[in-house]
Amino acid sequence: MATLVTNIGELRTLAAGDEPRRDAALVIDGGRIAWIGSARDAPAADEAYDAEGGAVLPGWVDSHTHLVFAGDRAAEFEERMAGRPYAAGGIHRTVAATRAASDDELRANLRRLRAEAAAQGTTFLETKTGYALDVEGERRSAEIAAEVADVVTFLGAHVVPEGADPAAYLTSATGPMLAAVRPHVAFVDVFCEAGAFDPDQARAVLEAGRAAGLRLKVHGNQLGQSGGVALAVELGATSVDHANHLSAVDVDALAASDTVVTLLPCADLSTRQPFPPARALLDAGATVALATNANPGSSFTTSMAFCIATAVLQLHLTVDEALRAATRGGARALGRDPDADGIGALVVGGPADLQLLAAPSASHLAYRPGVPLTRAVWKGGVRIHG
Ligand code: NIG
Repeated sequence: MATLVTNIGELRTLAAGDEPRRDAALVIDGGRIAWIGSARDAPAADEAYDAEGGAVLPGWVDSHTHLVFAGDRAAEFEERMAGRPYAAGGIHRTVAATRAASDDELRANLRRLRAEAAAQGTTFLETKTGYALDVEGERRSAEIAAEVADVVTFLGAHVVPEGADPAAYLTSATGPMLAAVRPHVAFVDVFCEAGAFDPDQARAVLEAGRAAGLRLKVHGNQLGQSGGVALAVELGATSVDHANHLSAVDVDALAASDTVVTLLPCADLSTRQPFPPARALLDAGATVALATNANPGSSFTTSMAFCIATAVLQLHLTVDEALRAATRGGARALGRDPDADGIGALVVGGPADLQLLAAPSASHLAYRPGVPLTRAVWKGGVRIHG
């Protein structure tokens, strides 16, 4: 069944070198983008979908979330807004709630949040383990995550669980725990920060993951100059995420590397951390992604639109830079090539993962912050919202 999407107000394919087009149409067929071109040249199709002058662009690629958890931390958030600083230790509260939850409770919470993200335009989503921190709990988290997420990351090295010996815990996270999650995950990640893991411990986690065939991610320089960014670059990590506290040397090293810097502006707001030097990173030539970091502690949002608005209004990205970071950048942070495989860009032959806005231009995402503008979303050609 071929569907011609007509009456598009603005098409941004976000493929390399593409510019916004106002006279465009596209055809979805067999779950893929079958054709993109001028509306006047559109081929015949089985049905037409009237975009009513709305903007069409790729679905968001949310490359950093922590959605396998139970409970919330609203009370901690309220204390933080009253002046108590964010610290890695809050994670323990979610670990306790997650360990106590049944499989069905974890699955239902994950599915609810995945649906919430989809309704806001996210078509490709990574999520992490990291709120169980024992062998069976991390295995269970990875298995449940793989039912719903497009990419699953092992974050056994989130913090050392309360009461555990750090060396013994690292031995588990790099041994039996890693082996237990391995069938379900593509990346290994580590929280390299004061209160979590130092660079030597983080290196051990990443090297074990790499030896098991996983690609690397690092939570780095979120709360201070933790050394996580330098380690990520040295080890050729696919991404380093947060990057709030960067030296000039870090910026230059990232710009000279293939490591994507994933910015998480909602976490910065919610933890009252200084924003990362996004403009310096982009101007130096670093590849930047934007993601929600959806989790119950530091960033409880699934809204990529909110991240885009914040990135434009507060981090000084242009609208085009923010859109690219939320699509192509996210794909790169997951080791995908948007122009070759169509994750994070609309390309003929690629998956029909796209969204239609109730606005004539994608600039409205930042121009009208907080306004729900997602009208319809397709994943693999199937309309999953709207
Ligand atoms: O990415 N930084 C570490 N992990 C999460 C926060 C997890 C939590 O506080 O529950 C993050 O911000």
